[in-house]
Amino acid sequence: MIVLKTSRELSVMRKAGAISQAALRLAGEAVEPGVSTWEIDRLVKRYIQSMGAVPSFLGYDGYPASTCISVNHEVIHGIPKKSVILKKGDIVSIDVGACYEGFHGDNAWTFPCGEISSEAQALLDATEQSLFKAIEMVRPGNRVGDVGHAVQEYVEARGYSVVREFCGHGVGAKMHEDPSVPNYGTPGRGVRLTAGMVIAIEPMINLGRRDIEVKADGWTVTTKDGSLSAHFEHTVAVTPKGPVILTLPE
Ligand code: MF3
Ligand code: CO
Repeated sequence: MIVLKTSRELSVMRKAGAISQAALRLAGEAVEPGVSTWEIDRLVKRYIQSMGAVPSFLGYDGYPASTCISVNHEVIHGIPKKSVILKKGDIVSIDVGACYEGFHGDNAWTFPCGEISSEAQALLDATEQSLFKAIEMVRPGNRVGDVGHAVQEYVEARGYSVVREFCGHGVGAKMHEDPSVPNYGTPGRGVRLTAGMVIAIEPMINLGRRDIEVKADGWTVTTKDGSLSAHFEHTVAVTPKGPVILTLPE
């Protein structure tokens, strides 16, 4: 069931999004060689709580942290750990959500740790661009297939592959709502977008093959071939005027 949001609810979601975005930026600024992913998670948790919000991920299906931090060939859902120390050349995908006055924001970004290879930088650039291509498709009358197609077309033309098993999603009073928003698709197909819908668009793009596996911890998703993976996400409202990104600074 798709839950439409009123303009009053959208303004609350804008605040949840701003807190989520500020938390993500704080996390990104902390990315440097020698820092553990656990330290970054702690910073984020404290920040979200200091804003009177609740980390959306903490305790979700038993998830043990406030962020997902996925390094290099990890795609998503990496669990922050004291033993994971970032090093120069890593690419670090950080996913953060905050719940404020009952509504969630959800966003993610892949940060370079120090200097990274040009191959890695090109993957980050393409994945970020594909997110914004997809956001451009968010307007009433367009369909979920138009959004997914925009991602797929952009990254596959550059030789990258789209993870299929995980998708974007509706966002609202629950972090995961309908509809599912795949990062692949056929133009003109799928659920029709209408004003008041809010969706998280989150391309997960691999340098090598699209196949993934889940580690023994039950959470961490990695590429099967060990190739690098990037993840960028914004929460976006569908409005009569077009897309409004909710996960932006205030
Ligand atoms: N933010 C992720 C998403 O976009 C969800 C994280 S899963 C959790 O779907 F369990 F860790 F919260
Ligand atoms: Co999400």
